[in-house]
Amino acid sequence: MANAKELSGAGLRGQIAGKTALSTVGKTGSGLTYRGYDVKDLAAHCEFEEVAYLILKGKLPNSSELAAYKTKLTAMRSLPAALKAVLELIPATAHPMDVMRTGCSMLGNLETEQSFAEQQDATDRLLAIFPGLINYWYNFSHKGIRIDVDTPAESIAEQFLWTLHGEKPTALHTEVMQASLILYAEHEFNASTFTARVCASTLSDMHSCITGAIGSLRGPLHGGANEAAMELIEKMQNPEHAETELLGMLARKDKIMGFGHAIYAESDPRNAVIKAWSEKLAQANGDTMLYDISVRCEAVMWREKKLFCNADFFHASAYNYMGIPTKLFTPIFVCSRLTGWAAHVMEQRADNRIIRPSAEYIGEEPRVVGPIAERQ
Ligand code: COA
Repeated sequence: MANAKELSGAGLRGQIAGKTALSTVGKTGSGLTYRGYDVKDLAAHCEFEEVAYLILKGKLPNSSELAAYKTKLTAMRSLPAALKAVLELIPATAHPMDVMRTGCSMLGNLETEQSFAEQQDATDRLLAIFPGLINYWYNFSHKGIRIDVDTPAESIAEQFLWTLHGEKPTALHTEVMQASLILYAEHEFNASTFTARVCASTLSDMHSCITGAIGSLRGPLHGGANEAAMELIEKMQNPEHAETELLGMLARKDKIMGFGHAIYAESDPRNAVIKAWSEKLAQANGDTMLYDISVRCEAVMWREKKLFCNADFFHASAYNYMGIPTKLFTPIFVCSRLTGWAAHVMEQRADNRIIRPSAEYIGEEPRVVGPIAERQ
């Protein structure tokens, strides 16, 4: 199938920068596959832990392997006291992605990966701890509450919602979160993953690779787009207003967050999945306005510019319907993409050569250093 652009030019577009057995983007199936499985298939039939296992270990787990993996992750949720102390020092005004970055880095100080033999355990610990980590900070800094992250939640999806809201989420919300985490889990050589691989190629530790990747994901051209999409649609009162606003933005050549993609040409396969969940949530909420606005935005952008929704656009309304504060949208992406990042780190380590590209020099011709007194 040909859902990929003709690529060349700036931003390393179209350059083969390494090999991977983890995923394909724009090549087969609906456009995104993890280790040969179509992402739509995985989102329809699996929970996130199964997909994390697949990405990290190379095969889908059988039921006893899945149960053992989930038991292991559940036992790794606790936050060390020193990490809690650091989180409590970070102000409510901080960007939650900076909290994730600091939290990951702090854990690297407390539980340093001593050798590559520990890479799976280091990854599992991060997978288990990230939802509680961000929600511990959020509840403490915004509500003055010290939450207990050792909840009875049965999955990472449930753990995120439980530690955020302080109660067991509905089955529908947990199901949507499962799908969301699966959709965001892996995406080949995107900016944050490439950051992780470059760091791994120096034989650095897992926490450094993941901390760097979080920094790359933070930007609005990458993971931050779901938050920016929410800020856009929440200003729109109804579909007609959305159409007028978008036409104005397009006339001003503004960038509309949540649309377009560096690789996909015609659609982002993740969009159909999260869009369907957003519609279900809208109906369950009894207020479909945000969904209706989003649908109109999608139609206008395609009609006017042939630009399609990427994974982020309908995530905005879906997360909002689940009562998730906008500033926590991108940290959820981290909780998921950690799987892809860590698997790429492992893949890089298994067949490593330090990544060191060359630059085309566009500076001064060779010259000599003159006496300081003669300088302008
Ligand atoms: N809104 C308005 N115009 C857009 C656009 C958007 N979301 N996405 C692309 N375009 C425009 C570009 O400005 C460019 O116009 P030009 O030819 O006049 O310069 C044209 O469409 C083609 O851009 P393209 O080459 O397809 O984009 P890219 O590969 O350079 O960038 C993105 C890809 C994802 C960074 C870009 O689409 C974007 O910034 N989207 C919004 C941010 C976002 O949602 N990021 C999440 C990605 S999963």
